[in-house]
Amino acid sequence: MNKLYFDPSALLNIVFWGDPQISPVETGRVKRFRAACEAVRDAEGRADALLIAGDIAEFGREAEYSAVAQCLNLASENADSVVCCTGNHDIRIRPYKSQLRRFRAFLCDVKNSPMCPYDHYYFSTQIGGYPLIVMGADRNSFEAAHIGKAQLAFIKAELKKAEAAGKPAFVLNHQPLNYTNGLPVTWEGRGSWRGGIGLQDGELRHILSTHGDVFYLTGHLHYGISEYNVENSDRLHMIAAPTVACANHGPNPTPGQGFVLSLYPDKLTGTGWDFIHALPLDENIPNARFEVKL
Ligand SMILES: [Fe+2]
Ligand SMILES: [Fe+2]
Repeated sequence: MNKLYFDPSALLNIVFWGDPQISPVETGRVKRFRAACEAVRDAEGRADALLIAGDIAEFGREAEYSAVAQCLNLASENADSVVCCTGNHDIRIRPYKSQLRRFRAFLCDVKNSPMCPYDHYYFSTQIGGYPLIVMGADRNSFEAAHIGKAQLAFIKAELKKAEAAGKPAFVLNHQPLNYTNGLPVTWEGRGSWRGGIGLQDGELRHILSTHGDVFYLTGHLHYGISEYNVENSDRLHMIAAPTVACANHGPNPTPGQGFVLSLYPDKLTGTGWDFIHALPLDENIPNARFEVKL
């Protein structure tokens, strides 16, 4: 039987997925997502964290979140933390506050999940002793994300603390920075700005770029692991996950893709997996194996 595995010598092992986007109109998604969660449950070794970079549910409906939570609770048997941020699909249809209540109720149903506050989606937590900042849009928008002043100040303060502690920090958000990770090619070449975070791009980029080693982990692109999924700008390391449950586009459309990220004192390594079949991706695929020096 194929098995997902985690390196026991790593400081931290993270399973990193994008965009389950569970939906009643495409039942294959929940099947693929369940299989991926079972692979985490049945893995050799234990994950410190499972991180999902938003677009948890296609329409942000209660029934969709309920199906996601059932699957995630299989994975949480073998992951110390299960952390989901919101994506545009989670928040775009309903009024902001009522959807926030719904998303909090979903997080309550997921074992080993930290909670977001009552009045906004962003917060910070720890995974295996390392700082994780979870971002979330501060108002509804259809595709990009509005990141308010308070959230930007919060991210800056949290990254300063991480830098002072001499630790790399992880930031989980749905949208990549504008024009990174192959945009606009990875957004099917449409528009000049589309696919990125939007208007606060410059301020966020500056904050992420000036506080030591920062891993900015995103989704949104539904683009299979390729030359574009890992991009470094000095000490800012931008890693975009493919969708784990929907169809991926690009030259590598294998279903069920995601990464295992392993942190060591001097580097972070990434391995692309087909989580449905618990098989590592072909090492000849660009970024199916990568290494970032700290
Ligand atoms: Fe998505
Ligand atoms: Fe999205």
